[in-house]
Amino acid sequence: MGFPLTFSDVTRTIPAPLADLLAHVGLVGKLVAQDLRCAALLNLLGTTGGINVQGETVKKLDERANEIFLSVFERAPSVRGLASEEMDEPVVFPQRDAQAEYLLLVDPLDGSSNTDCNMPLGAIFSVVAYRKETPPSEQDFLARGLDQAAAGYLLYGSSTMLVYTTGQGVHGFTLDQGIGEYVLSHEHIRMPEQGKVYAANEGNSHKWTTGMRRYIEYLKAADKATGRPYSGRYSGCLVADVHRLLIGGGIYLYPGEIDKPEGKLRLLYEANPLAWVVEQAGGRATTGTGRILEVEPKSLHQRVPLMIGSRRDVEIADEFVQGKR
Ligand code: AHG
Ligand code: MN
Ligand code: MN
Ligand code: MN
Repeated sequence: MGFPLTFSDVTRTIPAPLADLLAHVGLVGKLVAQDLRCAALLNLLGTTGGINVQGETVKKLDERANEIFLSVFERAPSVRGLASEEMDEPVVFPQRDAQAEYLLLVDPLDGSSNTDCNMPLGAIFSVVAYRKETPPSEQDFLARGLDQAAAGYLLYGSSTMLVYTTGQGVHGFTLDQGIGEYVLSHEHIRMPEQGKVYAANEGNSHKWTTGMRRYIEYLKAADKATGRPYSGRYSGCLVADVHRLLIGGGIYLYPGEIDKPEGKLRLLYEANPLAWVVEQAGGRATTGTGRILEVEPKSLHQRVPLMIGSRRDVEIADEFVQGKR
């Protein structure tokens, strides 16, 4: 009986520099998972006292995860530059020969409100090709989601998982700490056409548009014929909530608000990479009025409203938001 496929077995079919980049993401996952397991013992809980470019209080683990991404990728030969939720501007790696073919955009730690209470956390990454001789400018990071070369996430849950797509479907790997390898555990993930779960922070519902409020009430109304009422499942970590939908179906919503129509989540290193993964698994991701992957980026930390999940669920949500229901 052969042993299961490991990460390098599966990524052998993609361009070597991209496979190398993804292997380095896996190394980040091993290093961060180790810190998370012992964060309470390493004085890594709580905040740094700083505020990031998003205006958020920075957690020590946000900063630590960002440092790990930087130290791993400054030695990864295929990456010319790194943009991060936690850094005002991208870092361009010096002395990079022009062979380095990619730019990496990351949310180094997603779900930061979960750090001190041992709840799920993640990281999200987006890879875009970069072929110029000159060092990349911030403008070079502003690629549409359609133009990504790879995208995915690390999920630090009861197990550590790496899930990615390069446009040939979605594959999930589980870290086997005994052998230090990511083992293929979820080959070609396909999400259900429709689910029975919704993830949203209803504490914000007074700030939602009428259409969004009506949609959530629709989900709660009993109607066996349409599989309602849905169950609410909101973890505070986008990666964990989206992974649940990838496996079991349903929808995650972080909509625009009356005084913040752009919503909270960031286009380039949260919405775009997860949108591509979800679309590759048969789902959909929209702003409520258009496809996330088609949004033309204007700035590095630009925010977008996000409705993401099973195809039919997102279609119905869009109809409510657009006033068609
Ligand atoms: P991050 O921790 O990277 O800033 O992202 C947090 C995001 C997402 O992970 C989560 O679903 C959402 O923000 C939670 O926002 P609220 O606390 O406003 O519900
Ligand atoms: Mn944050
Ligand atoms: Mn995030
Ligand atoms: Mn984050």
